[in-house]
Amino acid sequence: MSRAAVVCGLGGALPATAVTNEELAAQLDTSDQWIRTRTGIGLRYVVAPGESTSDLAVAAGERALESARRKADSDSDAAGTEAEVDLVVLATSTPDRPCPGTAPGVAHRLGLGTVPAFDVAAVCTGFVYALATAASMITAGVAERALVIGADTFSTILDPVDRTTRAIFGDGAGAVVLRAGESGEPGALLGFDLGSDGGGADLITVRAGGSRQRSTGEPPAEGDQFFAMEGRPVFTQAVINMSESSQRLLDRVGWTPGDLDKVVAHQANVRILHAVGEQLGLEDKQIVVNLDRVGNTVAASIPLALSDAAAEGDLVPGHRVVLTGFGGGLTWGSAALVWPDIEPVTRS
Ligand code: COA
Repeated sequence: MSRAAVVCGLGGALPATAVTNEELAAQLDTSDQWIRTRTGIGLRYVVAPGESTSDLAVAAGERALESARRKADSDSDAAGTEAEVDLVVLATSTPDRPCPGTAPGVAHRLGLGTVPAFDVAAVCTGFVYALATAASMITAGVAERALVIGADTFSTILDPVDRTTRAIFGDGAGAVVLRAGESGEPGALLGFDLGSDGGGADLITVRAGGSRQRSTGEPPAEGDQFFAMEGRPVFTQAVINMSESSQRLLDRVGWTPGDLDKVVAHQANVRILHAVGEQLGLEDKQIVVNLDRVGNTVAASIPLALSDAAAEGDLVPGHRVVLTGFGGGLTWGSAALVWPDIEPVTRS
């Protein structure tokens, strides 16, 4: 057995306002039937004016910490109840401001003192990248307990007249607590597979707002402030990269697809999830789906899917799980673990 990062808390948060497909269809040239059949999505949540990514990140972080405290109490782990986290990693592509990072403010609002806190920007793969970063810092001895949050508010960067992106994306946050432990324990992160292809950077992008356009001194061209996506090639790349990344990780960990109880893939489109399942030779019952209720919540997608699956008993202690994500960059990443005995906190 070797030192490893172990998942010991899980939380999730959604904004109060739900938007149904029918409500979108009243504003845009779309329909409940199109959205359901082409994406599988029925509902998404959006932040209220003035509400931001850090508000959701704080709510999810609080809940993950509460979940970790309950776990430590039930295990009579005195050290666990006393120790708060000594690292915060926040995956987001919709930071509160371009500068500084959003994570230090989140750590401050959570009352975590002067812990190191930083953002990771890998769009829909952000949570897996953040998990790998925090787990590596724990195994290297740089941190003992980490709060890893995925939070995004894409409703704040969508083009109000773009029926495709508005149908797909929703806001949310999810978080896990990691602690130092042993590789043989349930919840230990057993391995990662991470990758990127910057040749596809223009497929998922917000053109304005960064140094490239600002440095010209000209105002952004019409529409460049909004998120833009080329759906078809993104669909294809998502299927290829989540399948191949998952398979590489399975080979490394020594599992076959048949050994897996659950694949928790980034929730972008139910047709993508089924295509990944097909590529890996999985049955439907092995694939976690919650996008029907929340849409694509970007960096929050995987931890929110974990929370829902664990809360509903679809994911149970001892399950062999692969998390896999794909997103802008292009980026992709997968992680493997045996599910621990933890209780997610999704409501205060
Ligand atoms: N309502 C009605 N029609 C819509 C629509 C909507 N919300 N969105 C797109 N359409 C239309 C298109 O305009 C197009 O019309 P046209 O044929 O008249 O030009 C038609 O539907 C087909 O568009 P297409 O893009 O080929 O549809 P699709 O079946 O590929 O589905 C996506 C579009 C975006 C749902 C799909 O490509 C997808 O899920 N891509 C990946 C998205 C993703 O994962 N993003 C996050 C990356 S991590």
